[in-house]
Amino acid sequence: MTEIRTPRLLLRRWTDDDLVPLSEINADPEVMRWIGDGSTLDLEETADAIERWEDEWDEEGFGLFAVELLASGELIGAVGLSVPEWLPEVMPAVEITWRLGRSYWGQGYASEAAQATLEFALQDRGLDRVIAVNRAGNDESENVLRKLDMNRDRDTSHPEYASLLTLYSIDLTEYEA
Ligand SMILES: CC(C)(COP(=O)(O)OP(=O)(O)OC[C@H]1O[C@@H](n2cnc3c(N)ncnc32)[C@H](O)[C@@H]1OP(=O)(O)O)[C@@H](O)C(=O)NCCC(=O)NCCS
Repeated sequence: MTEIRTPRLLLRRWTDDDLVPLSEINADPEVMRWIGDGSTLDLEETADAIERWEDEWDEEGFGLFAVELLASGELIGAVGLSVPEWLPEVMPAVEITWRLGRSYWGQGYASEAAQATLEFALQDRGLDRVIAVNRAGNDESENVLRKLDMNRDRDTSHPEYASLLTLYSIDLTEYEA
């Protein structure tokens, strides 16, 4: 069972108990604004998402972590890795993504989980490179990317929604520098 502890967080695989708290996070339009077509997800769609993430863990040896507060055991969101098949021009690739419930923003949790995820990807799993894709206007996400020291590579557009995207990346040498 893959688990990572940071000073304040537990990053772990998904359990049935995560369904309701994650579906509450996925039901918030502010959280979902920059994800997919911006639609919120209901309980059934959230269950499908957890199943896809768990399948990715089984097939790839990495995936999106359930992020839990060590102090309280609350599920605060999903941070981790996925294969960005939705953006064929960057493939093959592994991307880092993050999504926290709104009440957990502004406390440094996303950056703490993302930093641990990069270490997991590049040092533990031995991936060559991790990319990130940011939608133009998602300043909170861009702030996390800046703090992770990911390199801004180039701009492109979303294949389905025509929104402007900025591609970022980091490899092991850059990560360790
Ligand atoms: C993107 C997202 C995860 C960023 O979350 P966040 O909480 O703003 O990010 P961080 O963890 O970096 O925390 C930000 C602030 O917490 C503050 N903070 C408070 N206590 C802190 C602590 N103990 N340690 C570090 N930072 C702390 C910092 O001031 C920091 O802001 P700064 O970098 O300007 O100084 C969040 O906005 C989100 O879930 N958005 C919706 C989903 C989304 O758009 N995802 C991206 C597409 S995949």
